[in-house]
Amino acid sequence: MRSLHEYFDANRVWAGDKVREDPEYFHRLQHVHRPEMLWIGCSDARLPPNEVIGRQPGELFVHRNVANLVVHSDLNCLSVLQYAVEVLGVPSIVVCGHYGCGGIQTALERKPHGLIDNWLRHVRDVHMAHEQELAAIADPVARTDRLAELNVKAQVANLCHTTIVQDAWRRGQALAIHGWVYALGDGLLRDLDLHVEHPDQIPEPYRMD
Ligand code: CO
Repeated sequence: MRSLHEYFDANRVWAGDKVREDPEYFHRLQHVHRPEMLWIGCSDARLPPNEVIGRQPGELFVHRNVANLVVHSDLNCLSVLQYAVEVLGVPSIVVCGHYGCGGIQTALERKPHGLIDNWLRHVRDVHMAHEQELAAIADPVARTDRLAELNVKAQVANLCHTTIVQDAWRRGQALAIHGWVYALGDGLLRDLDLHVEHPDQIPEPYRMD
């Protein structure tokens, strides 16, 4: 196991480098919190949001959980969303899933894993909704990756159905929701061509005037 001292040593080097490059760096970050985007992604350690899209500290507001889910009753995610939209005023939100996601893979298996199966039940709901399409994919890796994409689509929809996003649109606040997927194998993002920025784009039963 790595000694905790190593982390503190690395931190001192990092902070020192930052100040050498830009003496005002931390002073500026301390007083300004104006991220350009809320990133909702998987907890997977191989997908560091800032790094994969070349953003510096301060530029992304981030929420991560297993399988990048937006659950209507998850106070954690909803609180992050409310702060991002109502206080920080982010103009865009990205849900980023990834190929090779362990959460998605687990949700496709029959083997029980305890408590997390309750969380991943939301992924099973997505599977259920697209059962025929997924059953027609013979390759298990391709099936898992397709479920990762469909899961992003479902979470983009869930975001749009929240009171927070709909209140923002009603106020006339510009807010766009996008769905992306990241491939661990090549480090590249794919745009799933899911872009929602107006309540007219969501189904009638979820819309509130
Ligand atoms: Co994952």
